[in-house]
Amino acid sequence: MDQFKSKVALAEGKLAVLLPGMGAVATTFIAGVEAVRAGLAKPIGSLTQMAQIRLGKRSEKRWSTIKDLVPLANLDDLVFGGWDPIPDDAYTAAAKAKVLSPEHLAVLKDRLSSIKPMPAVFDKSVVKRLEGANVKKGSKRELANALMHDIRGFMDKNKCTRAVMVWCASTEAYQEAGPEHQSIAAFEKALDQDHANIFPSQIYAYAAIMSGVPYLNGAPNMSCDFPALIELAEKRGVAIGGKDFKTGQTLMKTIIAPGLKARMLGMEGWFSTNILGNRDGEVLDDPANFKTKEVSKLSVLEQILEPEKYPDLYKDLQHKVSIHYYKPRGDNKEGWDNIDIVGWMGYPMQIKVNFLCRDSILAAPIVLDLALFGDLAARAGMKGIQEWLSFYFKSPQHAASVYPEHDLFVQKVRLENNLRYLVGEELINYLGSDYTNE
Ligand SMILES: NC(=O)c1ccc[n+]([C@@H]2O[C@H](COP(=O)([O-])OP(=O)(O)OC[C@H]3O[C@@H](n4cnc5c(N)ncnc54)[C@H](O)[C@@H]3O)[C@@H](O)[C@H]2O)c1
Repeated sequence: MDQFKSKVALAEGKLAVLLPGMGAVATTFIAGVEAVRAGLAKPIGSLTQMAQIRLGKRSEKRWSTIKDLVPLANLDDLVFGGWDPIPDDAYTAAAKAKVLSPEHLAVLKDRLSSIKPMPAVFDKSVVKRLEGANVKKGSKRELANALMHDIRGFMDKNKCTRAVMVWCASTEAYQEAGPEHQSIAAFEKALDQDHANIFPSQIYAYAAIMSGVPYLNGAPNMSCDFPALIELAEKRGVAIGGKDFKTGQTLMKTIIAPGLKARMLGMEGWFSTNILGNRDGEVLDDPANFKTKEVSKLSVLEQILEPEKYPDLYKDLQHKVSIHYYKPRGDNKEGWDNIDIVGWMGYPMQIKVNFLCRDSILAAPIVLDLALFGDLAARAGMKGIQEWLSFYFKSPQHAASVYPEHDLFVQKVRLENNLRYLVGEELINYLGSDYTNE
């Protein structure tokens, strides 16, 4: 086994985990890692910390935890940093986000209050519902240079050997790729011209890629998923991926829909609505920002159910998604799904899902896994879009020649096989012919 591990550089030294956006998700993630380090909590929801993976033939009865199989950064070696237009340190931001209880936060106060956000690259015109004074000034080219300077400075100051960036900032307004997003040359020219179509998240992604730092996008806005930055990531040998952490209702959709389809049950409609009262909900209350989220959420069912292949089952499918900013709920979202399904001889049935979830509690372990797997990808020399991380995203970034894979269980097999492949373990195809033919 060790001979294979040597193909992936070991995770030696400290890893900078850089987070644009230090709000509810980011601070819940940091607090959770600190709590695990201090022996106060278990990393529930994280595959890198908890999952077992089967190796070899079923008859071998061989299993390993993922962290024992592939060389991942140790939680003790993570150093957290980030940027936010709101200058609150991680303790204050976490207290305001109200995801974690004051008792939980009190024990972590010292560790969290020392993490202060660097001034952000922020543009109010793409996130209208936010105000913040902790903002960099300058042209877009200067802002990109300043972020690269921050990355290098943070790594030097904290003696980090590597870094990874996970976008945890607010969802930006909806945007489609324009001419300035089509090539590296066009993008850099637009940066130089301070073009309005270059949004902040794209400047962070550019700075990360230029610095050789893997970039993963947890929000639904266009950030590294356009030709210029895909080309740049390929050229500079940097791993990228996105987008939109798969939590809450979409997680449920990608669990339930593949199961119904696997049994060839039809579907006439899926109606999803929810109430949410955190800052994310407030930002998404602006139609331009909600549109970005809506596109990300809507794509899922169509791709899983493939109505073009199964017109008898899904051609009339109506998929509606709405979200409502409702302050009293804070981060504790309540979602309602009504699924109208169709069975034998066309008889209708209904499934109702009432999910009382906690958005940031579901998202935090995803941030951890993406940071650790992004860093693994870098040490394994993997570049460009990391499709094997689709498991974590609502709207997985994919090669232009293929469609995205949304089925959570296919995504899981893909992720596991990628890990097996990296350490020279046999890929598992579940054929099992060697047992039945014995
Ligand atoms: N929690 C979930 O389940 C979930 C799921 C999928 C996606 N997301 C996305 O993750 C992101 C974070 O969610 P959250 O609940 O932590 O939101 P939040 O509002 O609590 O935190 C976002 C933070 O980003 C900061 N920010 C905005 N623009 C920035 C910029 N240009 N640079 C640096 N910081 C900036 C804001 O000031 C804020 O502190 C959102 O885009 C959300 O849509 C969350």
